[in-house]
Amino acid sequence: MAETWDEVIQQIKERLDIVDVVSEYVVLKKKGNNYWGLCPFHKDKNPSFCVTPHLGIYKCFSCGEAGDALKFIMKIRNMEFKDVIAELAEKFGIEVPKYHNNNGSSRELKEQMLTATMVAAEYYHDLLIRQKDSNAEAALKYLTKRGIGTDIIKKFHIGIAPKAYTVLYDELRKDFSNEVLEKAGLVVKSEKGGYIDRFRNRVIIPIQNENGEFVAFGARALEKDQTPKYLNSSDSLIYNKGKLLYGLYTAKDSIRENDSVILMEGYFDVISSQAHGIENCVASCGTSLTADHVKLLSRYTKSRRIYLSFDTDSAGQKATARGAEIIKDVFAGLGDIKQFDESYVASDKDKYACEIRVIAPPEGKDPDEFVRSVGADAYKMYMENAPLFIDFQLNSILKTKDNYKTPQEKAQFIKQIIPVLSEIKNRIIRSEYIDMVAQTLGIDAGAIRSEMKVFEHANLPQTERIIKNVTKKDSIIKKAQKNLLSVFLVNDSPYTFTQINELIGDTEFDDEILINVKSTIDKLIYTVNNVKELIEHLYTEFVETPEAQEVLQELIGLSEVYRGLGDEDFKNVILETIAKINHCKRVEETKKTKQLYRNISDDDPQALKIQIQLRDKIKKIRQKSEKI
Ligand code: CTP
Ligand code: MN
Repeated sequence: MAETWDEVIQQIKERLDIVDVVSEYVVLKKKGNNYWGLCPFHKDKNPSFCVTPHLGIYKCFSCGEAGDALKFIMKIRNMEFKDVIAELAEKFGIEVPKYHNNNGSSRELKEQMLTATMVAAEYYHDLLIRQKDSNAEAALKYLTKRGIGTDIIKKFHIGIAPKAYTVLYDELRKDFSNEVLEKAGLVVKSEKGGYIDRFRNRVIIPIQNENGEFVAFGARALEKDQTPKYLNSSDSLIYNKGKLLYGLYTAKDSIRENDSVILMEGYFDVISSQAHGIENCVASCGTSLTADHVKLLSRYTKSRRIYLSFDTDSAGQKATARGAEIIKDVFAGLGDIKQFDESYVASDKDKYACEIRVIAPPEGKDPDEFVRSVGADAYKMYMENAPLFIDFQLNSILKTKDNYKTPQEKAQFIKQIIPVLSEIKNRIIRSEYIDMVAQTLGIDAGAIRSEMKVFEHANLPQTERIIKNVTKKDSIIKKAQKNLLSVFLVNDSPYTFTQINELIGDTEFDDEILINVKSTIDKLIYTVNNVKELIEHLYTEFVETPEAQEVLQELIGLSEVYRGLGDEDFKNVILETIAKINHCKRVEETKKTKQLYRNISDDDPQALKIQIQLRDKIKKIRQKSEKI
């Protein structure tokens, strides 16, 4: 008999044959060492699903789904890990240890919280669907008024929380401990000492994680004067708002297919949109967008095309601007942000780090109201014509131009628009915009240009400060160097460690920790077989200080954005990052040399000689950078 749960899992893994397991669901054909078939996880037209028996893994080269035999069973049968293990143990006649709950270990606690949340979701849903609660009728009426019928209620597992205080608690306490229910945020301690339900008299919107597990709830007030309008689960062992997006589980296939995602504000925006055929949309759960949200999405969209579809009120506009900044920040170092549509330029070869567009219909409704009252087709049309973020920003400012009439007011207006104009990298387009702004306002374009010079000059010291790494934030060069190193940690990357190393060549790293990471990686790549092992070794061989640990974790996070890139893109991104590092280096070198040049005193007998040498040096650096 297996002594521990881990042994059970090990014994099961030894007996599972990936080809047998997959063959139950997919017709496989042998080609070389691998087997190929149509992927069961997305609408596959050509066989892109590959099984590699000697590694015991499967991978779909189209949708990216990958894993081992256990993961395949979980995924295809929509089962939880522990249930798969229990079933297989029985099938193979492996006796399982009777008490495997590891004295309340965190893994077991988590499992129980997940189960309790799922049971609660089903319970609330059942109360609504079968109208078992006195509140159900009112809730159904409310939902119908919002255009939400039975099909949608079922698809999103919407439920009702009764008015009474302990309905859910009474139902669940039979199977779960108070600790589990409290930690899962389903009940709270009452003043009298017992427990009461956390959600009462509310429409329940269960929140699923990326894998479809129920982890939390958003609960909408049923009555007008009930506050707060939304009561949300707090973060817990199984729920982290900052890393989870509502609707992702049901949206992810569509995000992949469309290679784009729409970010919305509310639960009902996502529910209505998905119900009306706009499936690639998600929302954060009552918190603002985080870098982790953006990284999560970048795993599903290769081109990183993100539409922001927030409310059009001023809070929504602020959220749009903030969201765009976060997205830009996450992808900084990966390349440029798309700033103009191809029709503007002759070549369409530009590769972008990301593309941010804004959907803001002039009707000014949130997506939920819009798709219901104006229609999904109209929404799609606004989406197809959605302006790039920079155009949206310029237009929103330009729209207010009539409020600025006197010369002083116009100057005020120009102050607002200049920071946006100075973000435009392409000189020709920037110049066109300046002319357009000048024309719209009836002022001299030359005046705007000179104001822009003043603005850019005033902002220069700030960037220089960043380069000198005085501020806490990473300098551009350090960020690029981190990005470059993170390439080694990309899961399923199209390049081997040695290939990546060849590309990186003798690119130098400046920071002590980064130098250390690189030299450790150099040693490790000959002994490890995959990214997982590389990371494990890095943790044991390199991480000594909290700072080093932080850097390593950051690198792992950064690597997420490279995941899923094809051969060519992957290589280009690496080469672009190297070019950026080299460029920054040259800029810094020139600056230092110039400084030296200035500091030499004319009284020095050696001065002339040194000055000539330095001038030559600057000239050489300049020539070198012109060539590149
Ligand atoms: N929200 C929240 N707590 C509140 C209000 C809002 O967590 N007290 C979050 C919810 O996730 C909500 C989103 O912010 O879905 C958007 O809020 P809002 O625009 O006020 O509501 P709508 O989604 O339009 O909600 P409804 O249509 O139900 O009025
Ligand atoms: Mn709304």
